[in-house]
Amino acid sequence: TVLKSHGRPPWYGEDGHRISDAFVIGIAGGSASGKTHVARRIVQSLGSIPTVVILSQDSFYKQHTPEEIELAFASRYDFDHPDAIDMPLFASCLADLKDCRQTNIPIYSFTEHQRLDETKYLYGAAIIIAEGIMALHDPALRALYDLKIFVQCDSDLMLARRIKRDVTERGRSVDGILEQYLRYVKPSYDHFVQPTSRYANIIVPGSDNAVAIDIISTHIRRQLDERATQLRQRLAGTGPRDLVA
Ligand code: ADP
Ligand code: C5P
Repeated sequence: TVLKSHGRPPWYGEDGHRISDAFVIGIAGGSASGKTHVARRIVQSLGSIPTVVILSQDSFYKQHTPEEIELAFASRYDFDHPDAIDMPLFASCLADLKDCRQTNIPIYSFTEHQRLDETKYLYGAAIIIAEGIMALHDPALRALYDLKIFVQCDSDLMLARRIKRDVTERGRSVDGILEQYLRYVKPSYDHFVQPTSRYANIIVPGSDNAVAIDIISTHIRRQLDERATQLRQRLAGTGPRDLVA
């Protein structure tokens, strides 16, 4: 999770009252398709926006029992089924952040296969990016997004990246990665993840995507500018009153 903050939150007016909801972006795609990469590049290219939060679906894996953790270490636990994720908690944390309410985000450990005891306290931002393989799966989540992105990547490239990452960053063996991939990851991608691309407003390639990210950032900036204009009109009493909360 990334949080950048400089000065007074932009969603509060001079008088201390909230004047606008956050702009929320959902990024889905297969494991290792490049969702985090796309999210970070969007943040970078929006350098002048005061606050941006990246919320990862990984934070919302359900608490596992000792038996489930044992299965996970044997590559026999299905982390790629929608039921593995606490969707109501994911949606309520995102709704809190969108409404600029403070919230506590669970912290997940891939090496321990478990949610940690501590949580991360967040208080919202001008832009919130939610990313995860199931980020477009749940209707309650989809309803919160102002922009929906799907990262489309070849399966062989995703597998190559996943092997590299899971060995170096998540403490896994190549045999275990391949077993888990064939048993759960690939079937889930075909059955649950890839079909959600139909909900996306924009499909981004999983590599060589600098131009796509530039186009997305331009769109976001324009949306924020429009909101600011509507807000100024509302404050001046010349614009539609119901456009800004
Ligand atoms: P995800 O969040 O979808 O699981 P990541 O963004 O963590 O995937 O990317 C997985 C791996 O692929 C990382 O090692 C990352 O550096 C690499 N990667 C992602 N996107 C690109 C890209 N556009 N060009 C080159 N490498 C990339
Ligand atoms: O970051 P990425 O989108 O790849 O994270 C999702 C993947 O993490 C899933 O495909 C799932 O198989 C994997 N995962 C895992 N071990 C866990 C939790 C999730 O390998 N304990």
